[in-house]
Amino acid sequence: MSSVAVFASGSGSNAENIVKYFEGRLFSADFHFLTNNKKAFVIERARKLNVKCTLFNREEFYNSDAIVEKLQDEGCELIVLAGFLWLVPENIINAFKGKIINIHPALLPKYGGKGMYGSKIHEAVVANGETETGITIHYVDENYDEGKIIHQVKCDVLPTDTAADVESKIHALEYKHYPEVVEKLLNI
Ligand code: GAR
Repeated sequence: MSSVAVFASGSGSNAENIVKYFEGRLFSADFHFLTNNKKAFVIERARKLNVKCTLFNREEFYNSDAIVEKLQDEGCELIVLAGFLWLVPENIINAFKGKIINIHPALLPKYGGKGMYGSKIHEAVVANGETETGITIHYVDENYDEGKIIHQVKCDVLPTDTAADVESKIHALEYKHYPEVVEKLLNI
């Protein structure tokens, strides 16, 4: 069984959606959620899904090999960032070269970089009068939102759309495409 780590800092609806996508499949995956935020709703989702969940702090993430060792011990094949807001440090990037992916709720390189996440992006998209936006699934390197793009999908932004409307469209795209990309990369 493939071992997959999912990092999330907040709600974790993508994390849950990915787990549910694989439920009941013959070739499935063993999931492990990790979060930097003790108030993140992803912890509750993990409990309900019966998925292992690890809470870590800044010291463990940036100044130790604790996470690398934990994930290597369990044979982690893919690290999936799903609404994870901290920059991934070099030791994790190097230990899992080409095996860390992220989803970004915009058409990178537009609306990327530090501080660009979640609803902030959709508010900016609407404020700028964009006529389209979308999702980007990409490999993770040492900079925010700059790794090689794996998959991009667009959607329209109507003149009447609010940031909340855009967010719903983006979530729908994420729920459809992110699990499919995970499955492809795991080759199961
Ligand atoms: C998702 O839309 C994801 O693309 C975005 O945060 C949301 C998390 O939702 N990620 C970023 O903005 C990263 N820069 P979720 O916690 O419900 O999955």
